[in-house]
Amino acid sequence: MQLAIIGGSGLTRLKNLEVTDHKVMRTPYGEPSAPMTYGQLGGHTVIFLPRHGPGHTIAPHRVNYQANLWALRECGVSHVVAVAAVGAISSELVPGALALPDQIIDYTYGRAHTYFGTPQAPVTHVDFTHPYCTALRQLLADAAAQAHLAIADHGTYGATQGPRFETAAEIRRMEQDGATMVGMTGMPEASLARELGLCYATLAVVANPAAGKAEEVISLRDIEYHLERGMEKVRALLARLIPLITA
Ligand code: HPA
Repeated sequence: MQLAIIGGSGLTRLKNLEVTDHKVMRTPYGEPSAPMTYGQLGGHTVIFLPRHGPGHTIAPHRVNYQANLWALRECGVSHVVAVAAVGAISSELVPGALALPDQIIDYTYGRAHTYFGTPQAPVTHVDFTHPYCTALRQLLADAAAQAHLAIADHGTYGATQGPRFETAAEIRRMEQDGATMVGMTGMPEASLARELGLCYATLAVVANPAAGKAEEVISLRDIEYHLERGMEKVRALLARLIPLITA
């Protein structure tokens, strides 16, 4: 078992990770968002990768998802916890809350979204009925319980193209579709992980009410505030996860 954590907005660094090494990776798909950061968390080696680059400069539609997942697998990773900021569509989710989505709807376009379909890798259709790894979701829920952290244990993640936020009408449509949260990076990350046979789960941190769900317009300052609070919880949860996952 080798665990990797992909950090999203608000988590470009894992404060409680004792960094031991950095590894620059090249892949047939180009360069990942950053060198792989190796570190010790709870006495175990984990690999950390900031999705948007070390200085948070890579926009969601420009992240090289193919290279990121490929590089992690090359490093021997078997399990991936993808931390992701989301906007809340469901009123059950409030800013600062944690959630473990169990379904995805993909609204992204024009992203390199598969490893298959080239002469070197003829087309293969992977099962994606349950897009997240059930076993890893359960461990994340157990870790949250141990850390006395509330976490919504289900939800449908709507992946949008960004980098702009959505219109109120787009959010209404997504709600009708069944999406309960919205983010810009959940796809194709999750399906690429599945194509590589990685056990992948998203740990969502609610940053804001989605467009049209609050009186105010979406403010980056509010988002930063809520992500800061949420990421403290994420760090506490991950510290509990390590012993469970390596047991
Ligand atoms: N929409 C899309 N992505 C997001 C949001 C949002 O409201 N908040 C954080 N990531």
